Amino acid sequence: MKRIVCLISGRGSNLESILNTAESERWATEVPARVVAVISNRADAAGLAVAAAHGVPTSVIEQQRFASREAFDARLADAIEAHQPDVVVLAGFMRVLGSGFVARFAGRLINIHPSLLPAFPGLATHRQALAAGVRVHGATVHFVASEVDGGAIIAQAAIAVLADDGEESLAARVLSREHLLLPRCVRWLCEGRVALRDGRTVVGDLPSGALALLV
Ligand code: GRF
Repeated sequence: MKRIVCLISGRGSNLESILNTAESERWATEVPARVVAVISNRADAAGLAVAAAHGVPTSVIEQQRFASREAFDARLADAIEAHQPDVVVLAGFMRVLGSGFVARFAGRLINIHPSLLPAFPGLATHRQALAAGVRVHGATVHFVASEVDGGAIIAQAAIAVLADDGEESLAARVLSREHLLLPRCVRWLCEGRVALRDGRTVVGDLPSGALALLV
């Protein structure tokens, strides 16, 4: 049984997509994996209630209670490690993690970012995309490296940018793709179909084209 730990900071819709998918009959029979814990760095994260509704244990570790970033990272890492995870998912975790943390979970730690990386790292990605005038936008799931939004890409989902799109409409369409993309990547990682080797994503037994979601 593969053990998944999810880290969140807010709404938790990506978390919910993982939980719903992992609880589906198909996953249950095909992928021996489950979310064993959800950890938030914010006590007011709505995603905590999402986890509780799915019967997943939650905990909160707030950075302001720690004297330094290193101390917070170390406590968070210990809390994660206590669950003996095979996969750790940053599912809307809005806090940059230090290189010690990243090294400790290398190859097990993935993030979802709402742009087609390497375009538009950081915040306000939909605003960045509109300002740049791109015609295609989307989301990326990648292994976490110490450069923010800079790790090896696992898979991407793309959408068309429409003439009348604003930040909100764009965000909503990208989010709907995130909800398809992230559970798939979690599953592939659990199955060992994707892995991190020498800083690159290596892909095993997957249909050609599966890593690019174009719908
Ligand atoms: C998502 O857009 C994700 O890509 C980004 O933060 C947002 C989290 O949303 N990293 P939610 O909490 O999963 O609803």
